Amino acid sequence: MRGLKDFPIEERPRLGEQLNQLRRLLEEQIEERLKALKAEKREKALNEERADITLPGSRWERGRIHPLTLVMDEIIDVFLGMGFEIARGPDIEDDYHNFEALNMPRDHPARDMQDTFFVARDRLLRTHTSPVQIRVMERRKPPLQIIAPGAVYRHDDDATHSPMFHQVEGFMVDRRIAFTDLKGVLTHFLRQIFREDTGVRFRPSFFPFTEPSAEIDIQCLLCSGKGSTAEQAACRVCKGSGWLEILGAGMIDPEVFRFVGYDPEKVSGFAFGMGVERIAMLKFGIEDIRLFFQNDMRFSRQFPSF
Ligand code: PHE
Repeated sequence: MRGLKDFPIEERPRLGEQLNQLRRLLEEQIEERLKALKAEKREKALNEERADITLPGSRWERGRIHPLTLVMDEIIDVFLGMGFEIARGPDIEDDYHNFEALNMPRDHPARDMQDTFFVARDRLLRTHTSPVQIRVMERRKPPLQIIAPGAVYRHDDDATHSPMFHQVEGFMVDRRIAFTDLKGVLTHFLRQIFREDTGVRFRPSFFPFTEPSAEIDIQCLLCSGKGSTAEQAACRVCKGSGWLEILGAGMIDPEVFRFVGYDPEKVSGFAFGMGVERIAMLKFGIEDIRLFFQNDMRFSRQFPSF
């Protein structure tokens, strides 16, 4: 078309007309071919890329209730059955509630038993659930019958110690609460959690916030208290002693009552604390505490769930 100007002027209209016809023809044919190619491509894709709707889909992995939650719920259930109510306190505590008001003044050697994570000058990760005792007694009057479940933290890390673990604290305060009440409540609790005929032993011990204090053992779940099994002279679970330490407890120290403004001449009470991981490990025969915190479904799947 650019060459049209080289032709004599009277021939140009006819030539122009012919060129336009030619161009339309080419355009039509290209359009047609394009359509055919597109249709062909679509046909091919439909045949070759067809989704197989009979293939099974990929499933979501189903979650389970964590074994610690199972055990925690079971513990809470037994105490609710005895009329206890649930209280909670902060994971980040101050020195006063975690130590001072529990009769552990600064520089008291008993603080060494609970190697502490400090997060600021007067702020620490609670090393036990006992500060919840203080917080509840500060704002309420007896009678009290409370459990306090929750996470606690200690600078400790091996097969049986985790820097974060769980405790259930419990306490009862009223007029004339006696050591026999503590024995009755804890013996019933342990026989609900372990076996109806489990042997229970109260051993003298020491805690700054209870007097007298006791550690409570149950008869070994593997050797039934014999200390040895058919396979081993010294039972692998209780190391031959026949007993397993489960709880710390005692009668609330008069000093603690003074800190919260109770009159120790008028009220008395008991308190106890237990480690949830330890109970779960004994119940399920788990030998490494770290398994609880690795989030491996092959582990979690092994526990009863619903
Ligand atoms: N708080 C104690 C601990 O963590 C356990 C305990 C609680 C002992 C209540 C006596 C009374 O070691």
